[in-house]
Amino acid sequence: MDPYDRFELILNNEVVKTPIAIASMAGWVDAAYVLARADHVGAAFMGGYSIDEATLKASDALVKAGRKEFVYDDPVEELAKQTALLKESDVVCGVNLRGSAPDAFQQIAEALGRGVVYEIDAHCRQQPMIDAGCGEYLLHHPDQLKATIEALKSAGVTVSVKIRAGVAANDKDLARLIWKAGADVIHADLMDFGHAKVRQLRNSVPLMLIANNSINSFSVAKEMFSHGADMVSLARQSGAETLAALDAAVSQYADEIGWYNAPKQLCRGGDMRALTFCCMPVKDCPLLPLLRRIEMERGAFIALKQECVEKTPLEEGEHTCFGSLAFCCKSSTPCMFRDMHLRELGLSHQDYMRYKRRMAEKIMATIFS
Ligand SMILES: Cc1cc2nc3c(=O)[nH]c(=O)nc-3n(C[C@H](O)[C@H](O)[C@H](O)COP(=O)(O)O)c2cc1C
Ligand code: SF4
Ligand code: SF4
Repeated sequence: MDPYDRFELILNNEVVKTPIAIASMAGWVDAAYVLARADHVGAAFMGGYSIDEATLKASDALVKAGRKEFVYDDPVEELAKQTALLKESDVVCGVNLRGSAPDAFQQIAEALGRGVVYEIDAHCRQQPMIDAGCGEYLLHHPDQLKATIEALKSAGVTVSVKIRAGVAANDKDLARLIWKAGADVIHADLMDFGHAKVRQLRNSVPLMLIANNSINSFSVAKEMFSHGADMVSLARQSGAETLAALDAAVSQYADEIGWYNAPKQLCRGGDMRALTFCCMPVKDCPLLPLLRRIEMERGAFIALKQECVEKTPLEEGEHTCFGSLAFCCKSSTPCMFRDMHLRELGLSHQDYMRYKRRMAEKIMATIFS
């Protein structure tokens, strides 16, 4: 199947062929590392690369302390070389950058141009990097993080922010600050918080969300996808065999289901995209508290769902519980009435889920408008 039809995933105006990324590991993940694994990843964040005097000095200190780092004299020259090597591949190219001031990031983006995703390293917890004003420093100084995102966006490029969950005072507020400052992607090291953190982030912002940390099997990846991740990333476990197995499993799942990151139903712990599967608000269930939280009246919710399916096959559904497929459950919930109607329409379960995905996108766009 064509990769766009399978995943419908775009990053930096490029089709992402599989929702699996390589996450940065300083001193390890460069173009050669990515190219050796290119068949089974859709995107890669090379680096981290230090990009100014203060962070280059921090890299020196880390090397002296025995850590592996990329070592070079001229960051622009090194980054131009590495990104050029990825140009011929079909892997969306990202670079993970450590800088001590917004200007440094902007200068790199202006030098390398728009063909690269610029990832701000707000993750590193090595003391020399924190002392240089990057990595975790940015999670404790959100104004500096905001200024860095804005500086990169002023160069017209795509921006990702790599965060470590549980470090900022409040991850929801952090995510919203990242969104409001104009970033395009949140790449979250979930630490031990798991899929609950993915759901919290998904319910806080409409950005592309990459889930990271110990995602080395399809069952873990699926948990992330079904709670709101658009992609998953691997660093320590980014061996070719693991990536190939994940790619094969997620592709098979996408073809079987029609929506590779379909949410769980709301009453089974799904994120807000699950509103696409919700019934009419007629009973005491998790829908009502959610509607209260997002300040949406019941009537407005019903009207929104009806509006979302106008002129689509989901508009009808005479024999279904609520007279329209707009209010019908996920395909994994067995239902002869829904399936009878789908058969009449000539729609497969996969097509049904693709329409439900469109509907979820419209619902989320309304919630975050
Ligand atoms: C040796 C090493 C170097 C790393 N360097 C960076 C870095 O430069 N920038 C960054 O954002 N994360 C860096 N990370 C963090 C990883 O990208 C990733 O978030 C973390 O290892 C958890 O994911 P994993 O379980 O897939 O490894 C590094 C991790 C390791 C093990
Ligand atoms: S409306 Fe239906 S699907 Fe949604 S939470 Fe309630 S019972 Fe579950
Ligand atoms: S008709 Fe079936 S799928 Fe539709 S809402 Fe009722 S139980 Fe769910």
